[in-house]
Amino acid sequence: MILVTGATGNVGGKVLSLLRADGHKVRALTRDPAKAAFDAGADLEVVAADLGRPETLPAALDGVQKVFLMSLGANKATHDAHLVAAAREAGVEHIVQLSTLGVEMAEDPKKNPLGHWHRVAEDALRESGVAWTILRPNGFMSMNLGWAASVKAEGVARGPLADVPEAIVDPRDIAEVAVRALTEEGHEGRVYELTGPQALTGREQLAVLGSLLGRDLRFETVPLAAHREMMLRHFSEETVNGVITTLEEAIEHGSELHGRLSPDIQRVLGRAPRSFATWAHDHLDFYRA
Ligand SMILES: NC(=O)c1ccc[n+]([C@@H]2O[C@H](COP(=O)([O-])OP(=O)(O)OC[C@H]3O[C@@H](n4cnc5c(N)ncnc54)[C@H](OP(=O)(O)O)[C@@H]3O)[C@@H](O)[C@H]2O)c1
Repeated sequence: MILVTGATGNVGGKVLSLLRADGHKVRALTRDPAKAAFDAGADLEVVAADLGRPETLPAALDGVQKVFLMSLGANKATHDAHLVAAAREAGVEHIVQLSTLGVEMAEDPKKNPLGHWHRVAEDALRESGVAWTILRPNGFMSMNLGWAASVKAEGVARGPLADVPEAIVDPRDIAEVAVRALTEEGHEGRVYELTGPQALTGREQLAVLGSLLGRDLRFETVPLAAHREMMLRHFSEETVNGVITTLEEAIEHGSELHGRLSPDIQRVLGRAPRSFATWAHDHLDFYRA
């Protein structure tokens, strides 16, 4: 049995679907099964649990051999530590953890809180005695869905990173690597850096979208203070402050790390990572006026 956390979310949802398509028995973890819209089937169990409430985790892990582990924002370190401790108790054999490439810039927690939260989470897993695989993706291509409403309405994308080249990665590739790590031998003790095949700035990503849509699109750089206000509508203050400080660092020093192209998707999947043009083509309806 494979437990999938974040099963109603972006990467975890794709991991769940791919595992089911490959014929594996899966257990989907969600805080609210009534809200989750899973396709029912004999291969699927759904469990109500909360990574912030450790007392809910033993039942979720009962009879589980492998876990796909993700958690969010400022909760990353504590939520992952809860799951890892419960998994060790339950005799879980292998955990595949979603981390971030930013861990590599996490030396100073004050400059890179996001990387630091993930590093603490990675360390808890490495020290647990449970076999592990760590996935360190660069920024997700799907973050650009945040541009959809303004692209549709005004032909404008707004963001803080107009000119920092980033080898952003397709979440479908992250999920495919996670599934390989969960279901094949030989991935234990490995850290995979997951990037797209090309480093593109925000402006260049928008140009790709514009050419597919046949529209002239404009990038408007948003000062970090305004970006912070926008984020506060969706996330906790602690998470937002961590992300903003990390963005400041990325704008100043991060282009080497975020522009780097990793061979790991090619190595694990035996094919090149999906390009941003492919991701954009497959999600174009979100941007059509
Ligand atoms: N976005 C990026 O560019 C980027 C870059 C590098 C790394 N990452 C990593 O990827 C993660 C985001 O992955 P994603 O896009 O797949 O996330 P997502 O779709 O936003 O995740 C939402 C999921 O989190 C679950 N969740 C939230 N709080 C929970 C709790 N207390 N207990 C259990 N489950 C909880 C939700 O489950 P329910 O609501 O069903 O309970 C839902 O399935 C980040 O946290 C980071 O670690 C992201």
